Amino acid sequence: MKSPTDGARGLTTRLRTAKGRTTASQKWLERQLNDPYVRAAKAAGWRSRAAFKIIELDEKYKLFRPGQRVVDLGAAPGGWTQVAVQRVGDRGKVVGLDLLPMDVIPGATLLQGDFEDAAVEQEVLAALDGPADLVLSDMAPNTTGHNATDHLRILNLIELALHFGAKVLVPGGAFVAKVFQGGTERDMLNWLKRDFASVKHAKPPASRKDSAEMYVVAQGYRGEKP
Ligand SMILES: C[S@@+](CC[C@H](N)C(=O)[O-])C[C@H]1O[C@@H](n2cnc3c(N)ncnc32)[C@H](O)[C@@H]1O
Repeated sequence: MKSPTDGARGLTTRLRTAKGRTTASQKWLERQLNDPYVRAAKAAGWRSRAAFKIIELDEKYKLFRPGQRVVDLGAAPGGWTQVAVQRVGDRGKVVGLDLLPMDVIPGATLLQGDFEDAAVEQEVLAALDGPADLVLSDMAPNTTGHNATDHLRILNLIELALHFGAKVLVPGGAFVAKVFQGGTERDMLNWLKRDFASVKHAKPPASRKDSAEMYVVAQGYRGEKP
C-alpha cells in the first residue's frame, strides 16, 4: 500500500495565535494538522489515524481473512473496527468495545463499557456468541502521570485481554495488543510464547516515533481453554 507519508507536500501548518490555548494543546493541534496520517485517514474515511496501524500490521502479519470473527477492545472512535469490518466481509463478525460511546459502524456490534468490569466482559462474550479468530486490543488507559501506576494499569488491561483471548480464540487464532515500554513483561511474554506458535513485537510506521507504544502480535493459538 502507498504510505500516507509518500509524496507528502511538505507544507507545514503553523497556528497563528495561541490565545487561550495551552502550549500542550497548541502543540497537539499543530501536530494533528501537519500529520500525513491524519490527512490520509480523513481522505479514506477512517475515523482515526490509528486505522493505519492495523492496516500496516495486517500487511506484515496477514491478520485478517474473509469470514473471520473479530473482537476489537478499546475500539473508539472506531478506525480498527472499520478496517476489520471491511476485511472480514459480510460472512465475518466484528464486536467492538470501548469506555466511550461510538457512532454506528455498519457490520459491527458496538458495546460501551469498561473491560475491567467482569460483567462487561460477559456482554462481549454474549455479543460474540461463539469463538473468535482474532482478538485485538488497542486499549490504553488515561495516564495519571504516576509512572508506576500507569504501567500497572496498562499491564492489567493487556493481561485481561490475554485472558479473554484464551477463553475465545480458536486453535490457530491470533492476538494483537498495544504494549508499552519496550514490549511485553517477561511473565506475559512466556505465557504468550507457550500458547502461541509465533510472538512478535512490532512498531508500525503509523505509530508515532516519539511514543513508547508498540504492539505484540501473537499468532497460531495452541493454548488450552481456561
Ligand atoms: C488509542 S484508542 C483506540 C483507537 C482505536 N483503535 C481506533 O482505531 O479508533 C484507546 C481506547 O481504549 C479505550 N479504553 C481504555 N481503557 C479501557 C477499558 N478499561 N475498557 C474499554 N476501553 C478502554 C479508550 O477509551 C480509548 O478509546
